[in-house]
Amino acid sequence: MKKIIIAIDGFSSCGKSTMAKALARNIGYQYFDSGAMYRAVALYGMQNGIIADGKIDIEKLRGAISDIKITFSTDENTQKPITLLNGVNVEDRIRTLEVSQYVSPVAALEFVRTALIEQQREMGKAKGIVMDGRDIGTTVFPDAELKIFVTAGADVRARRRYDELMAKGENPNYDEILANVVERDHLDQTREVSPLRKADDALLLDNSNMTIEGQLQWLCEEYKKCIEQ
Ligand code: DC
Repeated sequence: MKKIIIAIDGFSSCGKSTMAKALARNIGYQYFDSGAMYRAVALYGMQNGIIADGKIDIEKLRGAISDIKITFSTDENTQKPITLLNGVNVEDRIRTLEVSQYVSPVAALEFVRTALIEQQREMGKAKGIVMDGRDIGTTVFPDAELKIFVTAGADVRARRRYDELMAKGENPNYDEILANVVERDHLDQTREVSPLRKADDALLLDNSNMTIEGQLQWLCEEYKKCIEQ
């Protein structure tokens, strides 16, 4: 059967990864979370004295970028995808609010994007992948056969992230999360390098009032249409 690349882009916390993972599982594709890669770079900086006290040492990060290798694997017990930073499982550590606060400025650095885009293109070489992010349909895979651009209201997205952190046993503050979502939207859309925007040929999906099942059904139909063409 024809194998394609499916690019799912959109705002932060709009449920892209939940949808992308479910779609990949359903159609037997590999799932790649490009946001996790930017998060892992931020975490690397925090762990290696490059990012501290609200500041990023850009020259140090530039010097270290070629030492940062991000890969994905599957947790043997839960069967969920996990992110590996230089071979170490960092899946939980990259989801903290501290990493979230540093990740947008890290993702705005051109040398970081160049390095990660190269790793992402390598992941798509054999096709048969679903990758989610901000610039997958515009920059990473401009020729992707199926492109989706997902959005939902900022309040809906902040509530989703709040519930996610609560479920992990953290003690989140809703107002802080909402402020972080709004700030990241702004940074993601206005940065100079690869800003978040819908590719002209992407399908728009506003999932504010959709269930996960509804979204999955819609996605599977679009996938079918695409491979039958
Ligand atoms: O989707 P997320 O919240 O895990 O993404 C984390 C950050 O990485 C977010 O600030 C946007 C950035 N990002 C990006 O610039 N390009 C991508 N392809 C994916 C994420």
